[in-house]
Amino acid sequence: MHISLTNIVINSWESLEKGSLQPGHPFRNMVISTQGDGNIGMATVILRAVSAHDSLLIFYTDVRSNKVFNLQNNNSISMLLYSDADKLQLILKGNTTLHNQDEVTAGHWAALTNQGKRSYMAHPAPSSKINDPADGLEYINDDTWNDALITGYQNFAVIKVAVNLMEYLKLNQTGHRRASFNLIKNNWMGSWLVP
Ligand SMILES: Cc1cc2nc3c(=O)[nH]c(=O)nc-3n(C[C@H](O)[C@H](O)[C@H](O)COP(=O)(O)O)c2cc1C
Repeated sequence: MHISLTNIVINSWESLEKGSLQPGHPFRNMVISTQGDGNIGMATVILRAVSAHDSLLIFYTDVRSNKVFNLQNNNSISMLLYSDADKLQLILKGNTTLHNQDEVTAGHWAALTNQGKRSYMAHPAPSSKINDPADGLEYINDDTWNDALITGYQNFAVIKVAVNLMEYLKLNQTGHRRASFNLIKNNWMGSWLVP
């Protein structure tokens, strides 16, 4: 079957939208890569929202995390998504905007479950060295939950990624297909690549 470059763009963004909406979808998680000071940071994050129209992805994180530190120095980000069922890999690149304690974070925070909010309530900050594996998460079982909820919101960050490059790779027994797309004046301009 022959797929057009135009259909690749449409299908890929449809799959990304599904990934953000359907728990268990292979694109629900993506691996992000950020530029650190002399190193490259990597993390799995949950794809929280997608706008194909605006070529935009959203994920959540803790404002105290290494990835935020990296993005504050260099807002370029690379993202990798893979569906083993479809033998489909997407590599996306873009630039991030960080939201913390503003109207964007307020809406997303309000929609999170308490379980989701817990992820931002650790004290001390993520990556701090601790003696016991459960140190830093004491609020979960005690009556300081409400205080932790407030600091949780202060730690909560929404990262918006304006995607400007997409690379598609589909493995086929009859011949792999690979294409690269750049966003130019709001249009995805594509080219086939040797896989
Ligand atoms: C399945 C899965 C989903 C995750 N989702 C997120 C997420 O949405 N946001 C996040 O900040 N970290 C998430 N993590 C944890 C990150 O991969 C990473 O370990 C953590 O954020 C520390 O990253 P740092 O290097 O920026 O400090 C997830 C991990 C797994 C295994």
